[in-house]
Amino acid sequence: MKLASLSLNLIENRSKFSLVKINGFVNILLFCSYEKPNEMKDYNAVVNERFDLEKETTSSIYAAHHPIGKYSREVLFSGLHKFLIEYFHQKKNLSEIKLLDVGCGKGGMIEYFISQGFSAQNCYGVDLSAARISAAQQQLPDVNFICGDALHQQFSSHRFDLITSFDLYSHIAKENEIIAGLKNVSKSLASNGVFLWYDIYSKDHFNAPQNVDSWGFNKHQMIQLAQNAGFEVISTFSFFKKFFGRYHSIYQAHRIPAPLLKLLEKVLPGTPGNIMLILKKIDI
Ligand SMILES: C[S@@+](CC[C@H](N)C(=O)[O-])C[C@H]1O[C@@H](n2cnc3c(N)ncnc32)[C@H](O)[C@@H]1O
Repeated sequence: MKLASLSLNLIENRSKFSLVKINGFVNILLFCSYEKPNEMKDYNAVVNERFDLEKETTSSIYAAHHPIGKYSREVLFSGLHKFLIEYFHQKKNLSEIKLLDVGCGKGGMIEYFISQGFSAQNCYGVDLSAARISAAQQQLPDVNFICGDALHQQFSSHRFDLITSFDLYSHIAKENEIIAGLKNVSKSLASNGVFLWYDIYSKDHFNAPQNVDSWGFNKHQMIQLAQNAGFEVISTFSFFKKFFGRYHSIYQAHRIPAPLLKLLEKVLPGTPGNIMLILKKIDI
């Protein structure tokens, strides 16, 4: 090729570099591809640095007696109660249901299901944080707790009627790891079992700010990820509200009485605070 007085000859073309002869001189052209850096922290680091080192504290805003903890429990538990009535009450005695909670933390959600009639012996929880699993086992000695990575480990040889996951996948940055985790759930689910995926809302999981511990999903992303992992979406719900897409209603609970907060959630514009998908696996 000749460009004005410039003569270019391609000698060798590779993905990372090309050898080119320019006006008789051999030059190396290096290609630098730009990949967007993963902005979220790696989940292993978050578990090691945050969940494994957390101190027992009663002053947490999420504690049952704190207005924020109280309000968020009230809303979530009432949603879960409706879910149990619709999906299980008619079909099975709750004490016979085999439950697995993935990313169970200290077992708070398993404790809720036991309060609704599940039997501790039929409940399983898996979490990567050894400290959280040990606290959970102390609190609920009859529940089966497993310490491990829910993305890469088969949880147990059992098939579960109900698998739940609350705010786990928002900790996982990479799409392939989220899908691996969801496929793992599918493998452990009984063929007519239900998977309840509850997570934080955000506009775009794959465009998180730098260095955050976790970042939510929009509904379309959760549905797409679930379908890519082999699930069929039965229903979707949203919980709480980010007023004007910014002020999460949960965090207003210590300023505004709960009935007024519920009214504001109905009338003010905004995005969801949290999303819940009810999923069944597609049997092949
Ligand atoms: C925001 S907390 C939610 C805990 C609990 N589900 C709840 O709602 O109280 C996230 C939990 O996920 C756990 N976790 C993070 N990555 C994990 C992984 N790859 N496998 C299993 N657990 C994981 C953390 O240790 C932590 O307990």
